[in-house]
Amino acid sequence: MNIQGKVALITGASRGIGRAIALELAHRGMQRLILVARDRQKLAEVAQQIEAMGVATTVLALDLANPVNVNIAIAQLWRNDGPIDLLVNCAGVAYQNSFLQSKLPQVQEELSVNLMGMYTLTNLIARRMASQRQGTIVNVSSLMGKVAAPTMATYSATKFAILGFTQALRQELAPYNIRVVALLPTLTDTDMVRDLKLFRWVVPMTPEKVAQILITGLQKDTPEILVGWQSHLAVWCQRLSPWLLEQILQLATPSAVEKQPQESLIKSFRAKIHRFGDWLLSGNMASFVFARKT
Ligand SMILES: NC(=O)c1ccc[n+]([C@@H]2O[C@H](COP(=O)([O-])OP(=O)(O)OC[C@H]3O[C@@H](n4cnc5c(N)ncnc54)[C@H](OP(=O)(O)O)[C@@H]3O)[C@@H](O)[C@H]2O)c1
Repeated sequence: MNIQGKVALITGASRGIGRAIALELAHRGMQRLILVARDRQKLAEVAQQIEAMGVATTVLALDLANPVNVNIAIAQLWRNDGPIDLLVNCAGVAYQNSFLQSKLPQVQEELSVNLMGMYTLTNLIARRMASQRQGTIVNVSSLMGKVAAPTMATYSATKFAILGFTQALRQELAPYNIRVVALLPTLTDTDMVRDLKLFRWVVPMTPEKVAQILITGLQKDTPEILVGWQSHLAVWCQRLSPWLLEQILQLATPSAVEKQPQESLIKSFRAKIHRFGDWLLSGNMASFVFARKT
């Protein structure tokens, strides 16, 4: 996608990854940026930074969990600011809990912002993109949309759903010359993760790095943009040996969150390694080797 002179709408632009994407797009020559989130003051601060680079902005303080307001705002926006070339669905919320202690209002918020908010906005904008026969939509999922993690069940569910939604739209909107892409960040240093108990061995990235990887990915023809080597490693590990990844995830789950005692996990991990070794030396493997020789 050629970014120069285009118009983009970014949700979650008041902070974190959305803000970094907005700044990076401005830096790469976008003509106008429409910044969406609830906090008008923070949006105005981001807009000021962007306008200092000579790029026009529109601030839209909007709760994406309120579909009626989103409908009204987008209709007005299209009349005043004209067509949108790029939509980045980045707004999201995440809560961490042992599933047995999960709280319904938090689950409902994750579903209504991460999924219904994305659905409402995408539906409104994709229809308009279809009539202009061009556009690009980026849906921000997560590595947790590929590899579900204990203590983040509903969040992972929304991020898996975003990948399914993206895959279906990619095929359905292609005849209208609309490209639909998923961005899968790994752990990123933003407000979202400040209150979370972090998984062991995961090194956070900066939001600026995530934004740069998105722009590079948009210039290629990739349907899913994975961020960071840890994501590539996790996805490969899941393909080749899902049970091994599951054991690693269990060991990496933060200890303050209720889970199986560490000792029993290590025991079950050792048992599985032994079983794998036994299988390698078993008659099955021997007959496989024998069959290949004959
Ligand atoms: N940080 C990570 O480790 C990580 C990893 C993988 C994927 N992601 C994904 O990346 C995206 C951005 O996350 P982040 O880390 O940048 O989080 P963040 O710093 O907490 O920012 C979240 C953004 O979403 C907006 N938002 C939340 N609820 C909203 C609502 N009801 N209506 C409109 N806007 C709303 C917030 O703005 P207001 O509060 O002003 O409304 C804010 O701009 C999310 O989709 C997240 O799932 C993050």
